[in-house]
Amino acid sequence: MPKRLYIQTIGCQMNVLDSELVTAQLLEEGYELVSGPRTADAILLNTCSVRQHAEDKIYSALGRLKPLKEERPGLIIGILGCMAQKDGPSIFKRAPHVDLVVGPGHLGQLPALLQEVAAGQGPRIAISLDRTEGDRRSVKHSFAQFVPMRSAKSRRVRHQAMVRIMFGCDKFCTYCIVPKVRGPEQSRPAAEIVEEVRRLAADGCLEVTLLGQTVNSYRDATGSETFRLSDLLYKLHDIEGLRRLKFVTNYPNHMTDDLLQAMRDLPKVSPYLHVPAQSGSNAVLERMERNYTVESYREMLERIRAMLPHAAVTSDFIVGFCGETEEEFQQTVDLVRDARFKNSFIFKYSARPGTKAAELFADDVPESTKRRRNNDLLAVQNAICLEDSLPLLGRTLEILVEGPSKASRKRPAKDNTVQLMGRTVHDQIVVFDGSPDLIGHILPVTIENVDAFTLFGRL
Ligand code: SAH
Ligand code: SF4
Ligand code: F3S
Repeated sequence: MPKRLYIQTIGCQMNVLDSELVTAQLLEEGYELVSGPRTADAILLNTCSVRQHAEDKIYSALGRLKPLKEERPGLIIGILGCMAQKDGPSIFKRAPHVDLVVGPGHLGQLPALLQEVAAGQGPRIAISLDRTEGDRRSVKHSFAQFVPMRSAKSRRVRHQAMVRIMFGCDKFCTYCIVPKVRGPEQSRPAAEIVEEVRRLAADGCLEVTLLGQTVNSYRDATGSETFRLSDLLYKLHDIEGLRRLKFVTNYPNHMTDDLLQAMRDLPKVSPYLHVPAQSGSNAVLERMERNYTVESYREMLERIRAMLPHAAVTSDFIVGFCGETEEEFQQTVDLVRDARFKNSFIFKYSARPGTKAAELFADDVPESTKRRRNNDLLAVQNAICLEDSLPLLGRTLEILVEGPSKASRKRPAKDNTVQLMGRTVHDQIVVFDGSPDLIGHILPVTIENVDAFTLFGRL
């Protein structure tokens, strides 16, 4: 009997990609994917620790799985990813019905570990060294690069793929748990990435998104030549069949001119840059140890606008960081107003045990103030989104059709027409009616209506 697998993913694109790779690997091992936990023999939760809320979600999901495990003691429950690395063996204490804890640096061992648990050998744990537990070499070594080959049949969408170009992070922004749970920064060899993208394109993939926590600090110096992100883009651009290239997330200090030039020169590279600012106040940026000032961030924006006048720039912000005064918050509002980001993702600061901020500073902004600042900043950003969308009315944009829209997944199709969603090169979401056969094609769509988040169009 095939082993039935259910996998649930929380967190960023890194986790979405890891879940896809884990699934691909287990399908090779004879597992079969099921759509819910009830019918599964193995349930894997791929977890995130970036904010407390993400962890709470996982522990409550685990609570809901408890009766299932009591009913069927042979059911295997596994915790994968960032929270597995952060909490380690304490997960077994808090949730004794968990069988497996596997950090992001050990995902390659999952098939073997699942087998050991199934054979009755008891709970299993595989996590990497903490960053304080050894020298850089040994810690790096304990975060193994997980890059299994994906077969065409294991990829959920054929025409789009994420490709990791680097692992880990070395920035240690004081609020952030990622460097601890994802380990030291490691770039993959350029030749390996080119080979992977070539395979994906041959397999019908039109759009590739390159992933890294600080993707523009990519640097492969393994061979005689050094490759930066810009060099990699030139190499990937030549791949036949590939139509669009995106990359996330950028760090402001590494937004070098060679990268902007590559974007200007290479038509397949989407004019889209996600470069989180996090705050508009120098005092806050200093407490965050972001290593840039608002002035240098603004100067970087000017360079982007000069070189790529039509590029969409998006950002992340944390509101209510330790000690953030009303005045400091207003400086963030000013930055959002002046920069006119295409979009901003706004988060309320969540103290993470194990980070520098949690040790050094008091989490002293009241929750109600965090919430108000979050809403205020969101209102400013939403107004900009709407203002910037209005001029698109009547314009015809090229859309890569991704699939049915959220609304249409609940609504039956009429005359083989469903509401579809896709994205522009600027990563804006467009919905329109059409046949499901259009999924995976790049098509012109005329915009007929807009709101702050979505463009509505006609084929
Ligand atoms: N590597 C990326 C993003 C990593 S996490 C970068 O450097 O930009 C994604 C976003 O979560 C961050 O940009 C930040 O805005 C937010 N974030 C990270 N830690 C957080 C915390 N402790 N509380 C609230 N938001 C946080
Ligand atoms: Fe976290 Fe900063 Fe690294 Fe981004 S750059 S993952 S915010 S430590
Ligand atoms: Fe991503 Fe969350 Fe881990 S944001 S890297 S899944 S802590």
